[in-house]
Amino acid sequence: MKNRYTSREETVSKGYKYMGRSILFVASEALPFVKTGGLADVAGALPKALAARGHDVRVVVPLYSKVIEKHYDKLERIGTIQVHSGWIDQPATYYTATVDGVVYYFIEHQFYFERPALYGYEDDGERFAFFQRAVLDMIYFINWWPNIIHSNDWQCGMIPLMCHACYASDYRYQMIKHVYTIHNLAFQGNFGVDMLPSCLGLPYIYFDDGSIRFDTGISFMKAGLVYADKITTVSPTYANEILTASYGERMDQVLRYRKGDLWGIVNGIDTVEWDPKTDKRLVANYDINDWKEGKAKNKEALQKELGLEVCPDKPLIGLVSRLTNQKGVYMITDRIREIMGMDVQFAVLGSGEDNAENAFKWMENEYKGKAVFYCGYNEDLAHRIYASSDIFLMPSLYEPCGIGQLNAMRYGTLPLVRETGGLKDTVQPYNQYTGEGNGFSFWAANADDMVYTIRWAVEQYYHNKAGWEGLVNTAMNTDVSWEKSAAVYEQLYYQLCNW
Ligand code: ADP
Ligand code: GLC
Repeated sequence: MKNRYTSREETVSKGYKYMGRSILFVASEALPFVKTGGLADVAGALPKALAARGHDVRVVVPLYSKVIEKHYDKLERIGTIQVHSGWIDQPATYYTATVDGVVYYFIEHQFYFERPALYGYEDDGERFAFFQRAVLDMIYFINWWPNIIHSNDWQCGMIPLMCHACYASDYRYQMIKHVYTIHNLAFQGNFGVDMLPSCLGLPYIYFDDGSIRFDTGISFMKAGLVYADKITTVSPTYANEILTASYGERMDQVLRYRKGDLWGIVNGIDTVEWDPKTDKRLVANYDINDWKEGKAKNKEALQKELGLEVCPDKPLIGLVSRLTNQKGVYMITDRIREIMGMDVQFAVLGSGEDNAENAFKWMENEYKGKAVFYCGYNEDLAHRIYASSDIFLMPSLYEPCGIGQLNAMRYGTLPLVRETGGLKDTVQPYNQYTGEGNGFSFWAANADDMVYTIRWAVEQYYHNKAGWEGLVNTAMNTDVSWEKSAAVYEQLYYQLCNW
């Protein structure tokens, strides 16, 4: 059967004028403005890649204090309207800025968004109910009607349903197609059922018919899974994993029901922003031709910066991560003595759960000059750790995609990962017989296997220089850009718009 859609390449090759789509990308964080994790990397880089392919892509995020502090002078005020969502009756002020061909919109509400952190407040449900309604009202206000709304994670899960239910009489809203992307199924936005009348302005029927019911309450994530036209997640392996009870976070049943509309598309990274050849945060720039000298200089500088012993020949293990159970950090903290006994150095950057932070603080104290823990978020230091390390440790218990291992490969640092989700899809383990691979991996979520694999990697570093160099070359040659995946999203949009 012939495809119902025509790809961009086909259109261009036939000499037809290429028609881009208009896409509103809705997220709770996006680079270059505000980031707490990989979602912001994606919301920064994917729209840029789609815009480069000729689409009119616009991104909308809340106007957080962090954006105001750093970027307020770049924003242009559009105007204010009153947003009604259930019992919420509040003004939303819209701002805009354009970066790299992508138009960004910001929704200002002082009480809801001007807080020290982005998430983690008792009224998160109310805050993001307001955000989603304000996004949908914005379309009418600026009179720009996208073909597709691409919503991300639980903070935007209600958008497809709200768009159908709250704007039923306006065909322009009803024409819009909805893509919903799961970046992390564990964060679901589950709230009490009274959220329906109070913050969402939706009738109880959506609870009664079970469509957005979760236990005795409602779920923003489930609403996205049920009402979006297409669902995507950020790697093919995670798309399969979440259909099972082990990884499905109690959403596996509804996901199995929507299996035919679920696509797994692996993330890329912004290879302009993440480029060891031009990265101004590094003391020495390098590429695939001179990485040995380049990485050595960066390693020496980082060892001095972080108070590690300056030894060029010891393998430096890097870890840049949220310190939560998802990331497998307790497998690491449980086995610190064995890892540090391997004649390695260890640089950890991250923040998160108290137990993990305390364990890494203990590690720094116990192994002075050999291990260091920077507790917090530091973009510049992250770049330097990616550039200076030899091994990047990411033993996640589950990982929808993972951006860290992609950054690491781009900087010639070999990822050592557990074979789950996007880590499995992006890291090919070293095969000492064929020389193939761009990193190291183990399968079971088991600290013994992790320690064994670290030991094996360290052995390769010390005793198999040629093999190691081959691996670094392959890692640096690995395509971690958005090129291929942006084309897949494009296919998805075409299929959805049916033209
Ligand atoms: P997740 O989104 O689950 O936290 P990802 O690997 O997808 O994991 O993305 C994490 C992103 O955040 C990466 O770009 C990583 O470099 C960055 N990051 C994580 N922790 C820190 C930190 N403490 N300081 C700077 N960057 C960090
Ligand atoms: C989530 C996931 C991570 C993924 C990121 C971007 O934070 O935990 O695996 O890379 O979203 O999609």
